[in-house]
Amino acid sequence: MAIPQSFIEQLRMSCDIEDVISSYVPLKRAGRNKTCLCPFHSEKSPSLVVYEDTQSFYCFGCGAGGDVITFIRRIENLDYVEAVKLLAARAGLTVPEDGESSRASHLKQRVLELNREAARFFHACLKSPAGKAGMDYFLGRGLTPKTITAYGLGYAPDSWDSLRKHLLQKGFRDEEMFAAAVVAKGRSGSYYDQFRGRVMFPIIDLRGNVIAFGGRVLGDGKPKYLNSADTPVFKKSRNLFSLNFAKNETGGRLILAEGYMDVIAIWQAGFHNVVATLGTALTAEQARLISQYAKEVIIAYDSDGPGQAATQRAVGLFEEVGVAAKVLGITGAKDPDEYIKKFGATRFKMLLDGADSVTDFELSKLRREADLDTETGKVEYLKKTVQFLSDLHNPLEREVYAGKIAEEIGVSRETVLTQAKALAAKKKRAQDKREWREIETNRAAYRDRINPQRAKFLKEAKAEEGILAFLYKNPDSLEYILNRLGENGFVTDFNAKVFRIFAGKIQNNITLDLTAVAGDFSNEEMGRIAGIIASAEDSGNAKKQLDDYIDVLIQHKNRVDSETVAQLTPQEIYQRIRQNKQKDS
Ligand code: CTP
Ligand code: MN
Repeated sequence: MAIPQSFIEQLRMSCDIEDVISSYVPLKRAGRNKTCLCPFHSEKSPSLVVYEDTQSFYCFGCGAGGDVITFIRRIENLDYVEAVKLLAARAGLTVPEDGESSRASHLKQRVLELNREAARFFHACLKSPAGKAGMDYFLGRGLTPKTITAYGLGYAPDSWDSLRKHLLQKGFRDEEMFAAAVVAKGRSGSYYDQFRGRVMFPIIDLRGNVIAFGGRVLGDGKPKYLNSADTPVFKKSRNLFSLNFAKNETGGRLILAEGYMDVIAIWQAGFHNVVATLGTALTAEQARLISQYAKEVIIAYDSDGPGQAATQRAVGLFEEVGVAAKVLGITGAKDPDEYIKKFGATRFKMLLDGADSVTDFELSKLRREADLDTETGKVEYLKKTVQFLSDLHNPLEREVYAGKIAEEIGVSRETVLTQAKALAAKKKRAQDKREWREIETNRAAYRDRINPQRAKFLKEAKAEEGILAFLYKNPDSLEYILNRLGENGFVTDFNAKVFRIFAGKIQNNITLDLTAVAGDFSNEEMGRIAGIIASAEDSGNAKKQLDDYIDVLIQHKNRVDSETVAQLTPQEIYQRIRQNKQKDS
């Protein structure tokens, strides 16, 4: 491994996992350990556990887990070496340099340089006679030359190789272009431009790097938008379009639009605190990212059905990260871009300032639909509003609105409130149940990818995991296990690899913890290992169990029918083994 183990040990001592995780998500004490809402998937009740004693974390919801380095890799989307560097910087340590370790970061550097060159090329094309179609398109949609320059918009010529030729000439190799996803590979193995005959939107990160592109067809072709695939420098679920502009101008408030053109139109109208997702629905990661820059977000999605459905989902995600969401009620236009064109920036500003709190937005919708002049109409309205109030998490807010509703239909506030609370409790129980079911399915599905043999050799795999967990907590037992089981006693390949690596560390006198092995496994594998250790948390008579686990593997090795052998004592099993050996020889 590139970074010396001694440095990794030093790093582990200086980076307490609770400190590090709590700088991203608030932790709550839960008995001996701490828990939090998992930042790697969307959830309402915490299922990520941080284990102080083993300096590890594990999410029982999505299977994410590992040590402090794995956490940083996942949450910052970094590779191993970069994560180590980030943690080192945090702790005021310097990573010893090593040539080999820098290969991955070298590729990233090249991809970033290449992307910048590609963006320059697209922009120059747009401004040249060859880019007239693209320029006409942008001007036709009302963009000013100033806006076009500010966003570095471009045009990809309708040709198979104009970008590729340009980049080759600038000294970039095909493999680098392919890694950057600006070229695709044909069946014959030849490379060709990914973006052809499209206007181009460069996607720029917070440090000003060009990390990806979106490209729109000029006419009605399909797909309307083509977005870069994920690359070593880009993950679409983690980035937001225009956040590089918006981050310094939020004033605590961000506008979330649906697409590139909406963002640019809103920006051009003078509101620079606007961002959009990149061709996907809002993710939990993006909501968390937004929460780092704003306390309040105004959702300005399209006024059509899908736009409103997406609004509902986004509202839920913002609630989880503690950002107050408001909803822009666009009427008379299909999206902000069209609204600004039709009614102008001033009217749009009024719309922004008057944006309904989500609660008002929903309640006024219910009131419009209700007929409060009849008794049945009132009952119907009460039912629906109680249903709605039961979803509000803030008790104060619930009380205030309960008061308003009570007044509207002439009942006491207590009546409304009691019903809402009862319904909320019932929903919470149902929600908990659902989350647990999901957890179970996720875990089952997750396991199979990492250790595909697990389902087939379930009993053996469980025994292996028990042994690994025991060994992890009792490194001294390695000799005993090896004596009984031999070098190759494990059945499933993944667990065998974990055992081999654990054993290697112990034999080299390296303190065995997750950080010591983080360089040997992927994030997903680390999650599994953390899970194996976490599920063995409170095993009672561990030594006895260890023997049982080892027995399971020995039985397997000797192909003794496991049904009958499960009833036998260890002595009887040894007899069987001896008999088998005699038979074999
Ligand atoms: N999108 C995408 N792929 C598509 C369609 C849409 O990735 N085939 C994404 C793009 O990021 C786009 C956003 O979804 O900006 C919103 O889609 P849509 O409303 O269709 O696009 P508009 O922004 O309205 O684009 P235009 O005004 O150019 O039609
Ligand atoms: Mn749209």
